[in-house]
Amino acid sequence: MCGIIGYTGKKDALDFLLDSMELLEYRGYDSAGIALTEERSADNSSQETKGVPRIMKCTGRVSELRKLCHEEKLSGSCGIGHTRWSTHGKVTVENAHPHRFGRVTLVHNGIIENAPALIEKYDLEGRLVSETDSEVAAAVLDHFYRKDPLEAIRKMTLKLKGTFGFAILFEDIPGKIFSVRNVSPIVVAGTEEAKILSSDVAAIVPFTNRYFVIPELSVAVLSKEDIELYDMAGEAVEIDWLTVDWDIHHSDKGGYPFYMEKEIMEQPRVIGETINAYVKEGKPDFGKEGIQDEILADCKRICIIACGTALHAGLVAKSLIQAMIGIHVDVVMASEFMYNDPVVDKETLVLAISQSGETIDTLEALKFARSCGSPTIAIVNVKGSSIAMAAEHVIYTLAGMEIAVASTKAYTTQLAVLYLLTARMALARKLWPQEKLGEYMKELLRVPEVIEGILARKEEIHHLADTMLNARDVFMIGRGLDYSILLEGSLKLKEVSYIHSEAYASGELKHGTIALITEETPVIAVVTQDKLKDKELSNIREVQARGAKVILLIKEEKEEQCENYWKIFYLPVMQDEFMVMPTSVVLQLIAYYVSADKGLDVDKPRNLAKVVTVE
Ligand code: F6R
Repeated sequence: MCGIIGYTGKKDALDFLLDSMELLEYRGYDSAGIALTEERSADNSSQETKGVPRIMKCTGRVSELRKLCHEEKLSGSCGIGHTRWSTHGKVTVENAHPHRFGRVTLVHNGIIENAPALIEKYDLEGRLVSETDSEVAAAVLDHFYRKDPLEAIRKMTLKLKGTFGFAILFEDIPGKIFSVRNVSPIVVAGTEEAKILSSDVAAIVPFTNRYFVIPELSVAVLSKEDIELYDMAGEAVEIDWLTVDWDIHHSDKGGYPFYMEKEIMEQPRVIGETINAYVKEGKPDFGKEGIQDEILADCKRICIIACGTALHAGLVAKSLIQAMIGIHVDVVMASEFMYNDPVVDKETLVLAISQSGETIDTLEALKFARSCGSPTIAIVNVKGSSIAMAAEHVIYTLAGMEIAVASTKAYTTQLAVLYLLTARMALARKLWPQEKLGEYMKELLRVPEVIEGILARKEEIHHLADTMLNARDVFMIGRGLDYSILLEGSLKLKEVSYIHSEAYASGELKHGTIALITEETPVIAVVTQDKLKDKELSNIREVQARGAKVILLIKEEKEEQCENYWKIFYLPVMQDEFMVMPTSVVLQLIAYYVSADKGLDVDKPRNLAKVVTVE
């Protein structure tokens, strides 16, 4: 989950590293650190970079580290940096990266599972200053280092169990950064001025649009002039370059106080772009992605694997596909997938949904499904990410870079792809006449404009959010698709506002949870599905009878008498199955305003990280 950056080039690396680390902070923000090799002219010789890297690290944010580095006048043209999300060891300066052992200085993302065994094997007890598994890896690498870095790295990787992305400096090879990875991603880029590496494409975007992902268990060597790539046998490997199509300007806040607001506001555009990318002559088309109709027509069932917000997108897809295609869909939390003896086979189409494309649980579940012979499609936002590479086919959401930890535009673009995939599946199975397809596509194409309408009412939504500022708990109730929407709305609220919030299928309330309803409890009720409206309204009356203050989000055409409700928000009318889009945006804005008005760090909620690369 940690952020990694490395720079070797013609200029001083410090500000580049710190600026990039600020961009990467969304990966972890417990502590931050940097190691820089200072430039020194060595005895009239032309060697310009020599010596032991200087390390600066601190707990807290990169802004703290920036002050420290400037106070200490840290400089140098080759360095590595790290933003930490702690796994092994508490948040302390000692546990912050980089870690130095002997001639090796490194930063690490991942988990070395056999660190305790390695401490014993290499007699490291009492010789380590931190509690981290990463320092153990540095010690093992130093143990094997005999002036041949590739050989030492090869030997170290053979000893490590777990996941890792390393950026490594050897003190007697100044100016060069070595990198190796297993599962945890590392990307590399280069220009005339410098060569850089990062855990994340986000750090590459302001620098260049051309990059490559280090293949697993290969070693990249970056010097000021060159980038080389080697396999574990030490043979040179050809580099497979990729292009980022995110605009550099999309990585700033664009005048908004937080990325989350900016990303919410971008939704009409990015949803429109995602839909248009996969529509040809009025029909959804995934031919360019190599997805033949047979894959969609022949599967007997579907299994969706994802985590968090992406999982909630999967739940919406389940409702859609079961209703429209009539085949069974399982939606499984990727983190639980392997522990429930998963049954997937050649007849199960497996969809893996992920914004980052790096969530380890989703990745492992996907690999397992492939090993069972299941056809696999990944719906991913980050190009070239591990999940995108591991799936048989990939459909990219065109959300652009999502920086706020709470996912917004990635979720709605995932939904856009899932709506399109459902329609393609209906076509592949010859279930829909032309007319039905036309109506469905027309409604889907309206989504950006309908969301524009919601965004234009943001002040009205801000007033709804005001009512929740001092709440201890917020419940959210709905049935069917409304319940799926609320699971996501509730996750958004709790993660950015720290208010305890739960979504309940409204029919379940009286089986226990209704005991928690009091006059102090705001209840958000969503009513968008015609066939469920009467039941939903009677469930709302049940909580009102227990004193709950109900904030009702209801389709405009179903005008309810305002007096019965604490607040009411009329949603624009779309066909029922599309109501998830405008409703989700209302819930995103509620969460955003509650967090911002409480003065919280909206983009970086406590304890979280954007990319979850540990199990
Ligand atoms: C919540 C959120 C998370 C992610 C989850 C999966 O706002 O962003 O719940 O959805 O960690 O991440 P990805 O989509 O990168 O696999």
